[in-house]
Amino acid sequence: MKLLIFLSVLGLQATSATISQIHIALAGDDGNGISNGMAVSFQTESDSQAQVRYGTSATSLTSSTSSTSSTYWSTYDHHAILESLSPSTTYYYQIIDGEDTSEILSFSSAPVQKDSVNFAVFGDLGMVNGDSTRKYLTTLAENKEIDLIYHMGDVGYADDSFLHLGCYTRFCYESAWNEFMNAMQPIVSTLPWMTMPGNHEADCHSPNCMLSKTKRDKLSNFTAYNSRFRMPSEESGGVMNMWHSFNHGPVHFIALDLETGFPGAAEETRYVMKSGGFGDQISWLEEDLKLAAESRDVRPWIVAGGHHPMYNGGRVDSKMQAAIEPLLKQYNIDVFFTGHVHSYERDWPTFNTTEIVKSYDSPGVPVHVMIGGPGNDEMSADMVKIMQELESGEKEDPSREPTEKWLLGLEEGSKDMIALTDTEHYGIGMVEANMTHFSFEYVQTTDQFVADSFVLTK
Ligand SMILES: *[C@@H]1O[C@H](CO)[C@@H](O)[C@H](O)[C@H]1NC(C)=O
Ligand SMILES: *[C@@H]1O[C@H](CO)[C@@H](O)[C@H](O)[C@H]1NC(C)=O
Ligand SMILES: *[C@@H]1O[C@H](CO)[C@@H](O)[C@H](O)[C@H]1NC(C)=O
Repeated sequence: MKLLIFLSVLGLQATSATISQIHIALAGDDGNGISNGMAVSFQTESDSQAQVRYGTSATSLTSSTSSTSSTYWSTYDHHAILESLSPSTTYYYQIIDGEDTSEILSFSSAPVQKDSVNFAVFGDLGMVNGDSTRKYLTTLAENKEIDLIYHMGDVGYADDSFLHLGCYTRFCYESAWNEFMNAMQPIVSTLPWMTMPGNHEADCHSPNCMLSKTKRDKLSNFTAYNSRFRMPSEESGGVMNMWHSFNHGPVHFIALDLETGFPGAAEETRYVMKSGGFGDQISWLEEDLKLAAESRDVRPWIVAGGHHPMYNGGRVDSKMQAAIEPLLKQYNIDVFFTGHVHSYERDWPTFNTTEIVKSYDSPGVPVHVMIGGPGNDEMSADMVKIMQELESGEKEDPSREPTEKWLLGLEEGSKDMIALTDTEHYGIGMVEANMTHFSFEYVQTTDQFVADSFVLTK
């Protein structure tokens, strides 16, 4: 006991000023598709050979591995892969960079076989308006209530920072990224943060960036995002942090690039600050699904996530639909998670717009769930006002239940697939999946009110 207290005091004193933005992600493959490693990622201000010491006891970090580092602007992104971990084990780790050391942090390695997984799922989380969601995620991490975070793009909104006071003409892109990553550290230094790209990762398009050819060149084409994270794409045949897949318990997770990864994708067809050209995601997706189908007996659920929704407010992204929807049906994908629009929408299991199955028992076509409202710069002003009044206790919640208000303006017929929407609260999804049930809840993060749920069964 005394020793632990002594060490934690030491740990505090040794807390580093330059090692920052620590986050982890599942890595490695034990040969059966299970992650047997963990990527530890962080930044330093100058280039260095950092080490990550780790072990199964906080007082004995007996293993060590070096990070590889790179820079695309001024700070250095490090990734160290902790390999050959024992499954379902608590590991402690500490980053050492010369004189600097991080505090001792911990995570649980992935299980080889576990009949359940719990995860949080959302897109579109930023610094601004993101407090209630970060607070909720912090509690989930502290209480070890979830195994991982599945984040469908728009990670931090650094590209919107020029709209902040004092940043209209100043270069705030990198400091905004850093600020967000540091704010996430208490959560994601202990929970794998599995990400995919959103349109806000594409580039720095502030006036300050647009006027500089160097910035335009160096800060476009998802560069910051690809440098700062380390997703398991090597392990899954994916590309950079653009698309990849991994398994956890009874679920196969697919992370897609819906920004540039199919013909006609939103960010691929721009003329200014071009991005895209990462390869043939659709062929990869088909190969990945073929493999996942072979393991359906041990991993009955397949979820796919990406940033842009295919269906939203009764509208259809017909190019995305043409590129990927047939595969979603052919391989019986269970849920298709997206964000981008800063609100919540659950659609009935749907295929080809009009094949709508109003049942969650083996529907045969995916449930579409859009969760883009955990809080960011671009939330609607109405929603922000309601949330501020709620958080300050000024007002009772005017709309405790999700409403069908949004549906009123839609054309007859187009709304048939929509089961429920919520445009008035910050919220995220929470999933508990076991071998027979995939239970989803939509949780409003200001007070953890569960406003929607469904249970998929087979
Ligand atoms: C974006 O980056 C990828 C990967 O490095 C590269 O193949 C592609 O050509 C780049 N696209 C543009 C428009 O620069
Ligand atoms: C979708 O439905 C349209 C008619 O509504 C049909 O022409 C088309 O072949 C269908 N697509 C698929 C992939 O089933
Ligand atoms: C799976 O989850 C469902 C819903 O939460 C629960 O009723 C069931 O008992 C669980 N099955 C097992 C084997 O734990």
